[in-house]
Amino acid sequence: MSENNIRYLVCVAWPYASGDRHLGHVAGAYLPPDIFARYQRLRGHDVLMVSGSDTHGTPVMLRAQEEGVTPRELVDYYHARFVESFRQLGLSFDLFTHTDTQNHWDTTHELFLNHLNNGYIYKDKQLQPYCLIDQQFLADRYIEGECPICGYAGARGDQCDNCGNTLEPIELIHPRCKICGQSEIEFRETEHFFFDLGKVSPALAAWLNDDKEHWRPHVINYARQQAESGELRGRAVTRDIDWGINVPVPGYENKVIYVWYDAVIGYLSATREAEALNGRPEGWKDWWLDDQVRSVYFIGKDNIPFHAIFWPAMLIADGRGLNLPYDVPANAYLNIEDKKISTSRRWTIDLPDFLSRYDPDPLRYVLTINAPETRDVNFTWEEFLRRNNDELVATWGNLVNRTLGFAYKRFEGKVPQPGEFDELDRALLKQSEETFDRVGAEIDAIRLKIALSKAMELAHAANRYLNEKAPWSQIKTDPQAAATTIYVALQVIDHLKIILHPFLPFTTQQLHTYLGYDDDLFGHLYVEEVEDARGVHQVLRYDGSRIQARWEPTTLTPGQALRKPAPLYKKLDESIVEEERQRLIARLGLDG
Ligand code: MF3
Ligand code: ZN
Repeated sequence: MSENNIRYLVCVAWPYASGDRHLGHVAGAYLPPDIFARYQRLRGHDVLMVSGSDTHGTPVMLRAQEEGVTPRELVDYYHARFVESFRQLGLSFDLFTHTDTQNHWDTTHELFLNHLNNGYIYKDKQLQPYCLIDQQFLADRYIEGECPICGYAGARGDQCDNCGNTLEPIELIHPRCKICGQSEIEFRETEHFFFDLGKVSPALAAWLNDDKEHWRPHVINYARQQAESGELRGRAVTRDIDWGINVPVPGYENKVIYVWYDAVIGYLSATREAEALNGRPEGWKDWWLDDQVRSVYFIGKDNIPFHAIFWPAMLIADGRGLNLPYDVPANAYLNIEDKKISTSRRWTIDLPDFLSRYDPDPLRYVLTINAPETRDVNFTWEEFLRRNNDELVATWGNLVNRTLGFAYKRFEGKVPQPGEFDELDRALLKQSEETFDRVGAEIDAIRLKIALSKAMELAHAANRYLNEKAPWSQIKTDPQAAATTIYVALQVIDHLKIILHPFLPFTTQQLHTYLGYDDDLFGHLYVEEVEDARGVHQVLRYDGSRIQARWEPTTLTPGQALRKPAPLYKKLDESIVEEERQRLIARLGLDG
């Protein structure tokens, strides 16, 4: 069947190299693609998962200024932190690179020139805010004010973070300069290149109206409404700043390309880099010119306009027939302890900080079982503790522990030889086999929260089964019956090892070794240094070449030697809830 060989290009939002990723980013954009990619690889599908640090633009410049370092120093610092914390969290990027590589500059120039030559980029004069105190143009985040659409007070020159709409600086109400805080702003004429969104909008609207049944309603509705509003028009894609990719046209040496224009091109350039590193410099074409490939873009809801409108428009205007997004499963937000996350107010939990005290799998579990897929959700330490202790430790962990422990002690450390299965045995085994399809269908539809809860239902069922069978009593009266029970439970655990793997990659690998296997079942991540004409850059890569597991029921061999098991999860002490809340509050006090 055609379903046999689907190829997935898994595209992940490019984090600005201007601050650590927090749990909201992880839940919204970083963890879901990893679960999706790990699952599709187990299905035997070809997957290429790419992203990298977004190194340009005013977010990086402003933050560097605040920290008293150069933009390049800031980028190097945060890029290294992304690579390290993503590796620790087990995000299986085939390539996580950044946008200051020669390959990315070249790819950006290529698209820019294609757009220009195809008549989708034109020059025009525009009024841009100029700060009379700082004597410079105020691009994008250098200017803030009230959003003309929703009234939010902290809207920026290019986008309102509250309502998600893209803006022009001139639309801001009561604008002020982000450098000096004053409103001595004058609008001055400056010449820029514009991308002609209006010219693409008929083609864009046609594409958006075609077969988008599988898209999340909030994403497709927004995109259609934009495309049909008749309001899409030229947007400047150059800026009067000195940090970014140069404009490949003589006479524009003092301007750079707008960060959002180059960042989305990262999906294409990273595919090139990944395939070039694999020794296939032309291999990117297999991902971008074959329309059977499904490219899925994992982003937070604030990125919707750029991925459902701007990037598809750029792809269309390029003219080579590059693949348009297959899906853009944007997520809503994660709040923390009932409050909206705010990096400026320091109401966040940063990923490296979290991972310095807790293991990755419990975080992956909690952020998925309560994923912000359809609406904003709330993270509390109380819930983290409860789900870790009740669900990971007491349900799934306990199932593994007591079954493996019993087999290890009472059956000479081997998988016992089962006798004949009775109705209870058969019912559980059937449910176990069916769970592959049940969970798989949900992951395919990117409903990861339901997928995980369906996997956990099987763990609950297996615990109920053990309680009913009571092998610890059976062993005294009918050792063969006990052997059958333990065999069945081990079989279900071996299934859950695969089913839970996309969600819990570290502990399922650990379980794999307890079950007596030796191989690196699910692949592994590594860091590499790559050199090109712009210098040396660090990349995170994933080697899945030796993956042997398949998304299908296994059959456990009686007699297989087990290893001495240890608990997969740690019970957390109640005291961490108050401790962590205090830590959050203390951060607020550090506000500068
Ligand atoms: N850097 C942007 C952000 O952190 C996201 C960019 S996603 C991109 O919001 F790939 F389109 F660049
Ligand atoms: Zn707004």
